[in-house]
Amino acid sequence: MAFPKGFFWGGATAANQFEGAWNVDGRGMAMTDVTTGGSVKEPRMVTYIDKDGNPGKMPSFGVNGQALPEGAHYAVLDDCLYPNHDGIDFYHHYKEDIALFAEMGFKIFRMSISWSRLYPNGDEETPNQKGIEFYRNVFTCLRSYGIEPLVTLWHFDTPLYLEEHYGGWKNRKLIEFFTRYVTTCFNEYKGLVKYWLTFNEINNTIMMLNIFGHSIEDDQPYKDAYQHLHHQFVASAKAVQIGHAVDPENKIGCMICGITFYPATCDPKDILANRHQWEIGLYYCGDVQCKGEYGSYAQRLWKEHNAKPEMTAEDLEDLKNGTVDMYTFSYYMSQLVTTHKATDMVSGNFSAGARNEYLQYSDWGWATDPDGLQYYLEVMNDRYHLPMMVVENGLGAYDTVEEDGSIHDPFRIDYYRQHIQAMNRAIENGVNLIGYTTWGCIDLVSAGTGEMRKRYGFIYVDKHDDGTGTMARSRKDSFFWYKKVIASNGEDLAD
Ligand code: BG6
Repeated sequence: MAFPKGFFWGGATAANQFEGAWNVDGRGMAMTDVTTGGSVKEPRMVTYIDKDGNPGKMPSFGVNGQALPEGAHYAVLDDCLYPNHDGIDFYHHYKEDIALFAEMGFKIFRMSISWSRLYPNGDEETPNQKGIEFYRNVFTCLRSYGIEPLVTLWHFDTPLYLEEHYGGWKNRKLIEFFTRYVTTCFNEYKGLVKYWLTFNEINNTIMMLNIFGHSIEDDQPYKDAYQHLHHQFVASAKAVQIGHAVDPENKIGCMICGITFYPATCDPKDILANRHQWEIGLYYCGDVQCKGEYGSYAQRLWKEHNAKPEMTAEDLEDLKNGTVDMYTFSYYMSQLVTTHKATDMVSGNFSAGARNEYLQYSDWGWATDPDGLQYYLEVMNDRYHLPMMVVENGLGAYDTVEEDGSIHDPFRIDYYRQHIQAMNRAIENGVNLIGYTTWGCIDLVSAGTGEMRKRYGFIYVDKHDDGTGTMARSRKDSFFWYKKVIASNGEDLAD
């Protein structure tokens, strides 16, 4: 096998999906704290109190803040269940969980810092010391096992106060607040953390908008998305500069939601549409963060929606000076792009488009496509010439606990085997891949549907969608398999 010595094998999580302790030790709220559970058919709902004091719910449109009805404010309602409130309570189980990661042989562990645990509203001048202490304890514990922390600074969790009172990332002020927050992180965790990611799946804002729901004729959501993204690009570039200034050892990456798009037919119109999908969905963000400037096609994209994102000369300078050290991405599926009317459509959470007859789909409608991972790695390696990490990949599936407590998940093992083989081929073809952190290495709350039963973990957590469960952890068959994979540096993929 081609995996280089020192390859970072590990797993990935996000604060809001697994920490729980949503209102403990001074933590402020994030959007997920007012978002209910859903399913592949039922959207998650964001809850609020309207201007007349009546409770209300509206479908959650994914990861970013959304406009409330006039005069309403976000609220936790008594009769709703909010799965992220408890997550899997990593906050109180971190020692046990990290011991299990160490038992599997993890070299790296990806987690995020909850911004509102450090700055409860987001606009305070000084941080919440209890939040700082919590992460220091976690990083110290990881290091005691020789596990490298890989820390995402923003994983879909802008403090709710900033969403409500400042309008979220459309507001330029957020650059300043984010900069203050990340400065605290870099200073406080200097020497404990070396690998950082700025914004998780930053491209979702525009890619999902383009794939789903919004009428192509409606310019406003696009205008907002481009402005929002510009602010995040500048915030990310500033974070890179600050991170390097605080500790030149820091390696800071972008994080892109990697979907491999294919044209559905050989009609040249489909080929072109597919190329444009790569531009708006994948290159738009990757180019700014890796190359330090907007791609030439950005003018065309903005023009299509009469968008003129406001930016200063200083912003453009910041983008140039704040390019990332590594390209990291999540990979779950490929999708087809076509200009023709497709009859056989995929519908799942965060997946869409025409069905690919050559692929199998998960129960949540995601196409399993390891070749797509190889393709993606090879394209992005050529484009950016940066070290790469696959920082999310995995299969959300139902698990059954047998009477004796064992959990047999050969489907998950098979999925990982195929994707590891695909990474191996990419490395053989020259890709500079340095790490792999599987998503939800321990079961956690699904971002898309809010479910627990969409499980990804090597470690099972006894927590259910109705809020019941003991939170007990147990090892699935894949736990023992992944342990062998890591011990053999990817050589031993047998059952
Ligand atoms: C990515 C996110 O989109 O996919 C994660 O970065 C998320 O937060 C993961 O959990 C899997 O999606 P889901 O909807 O199955 O949780």
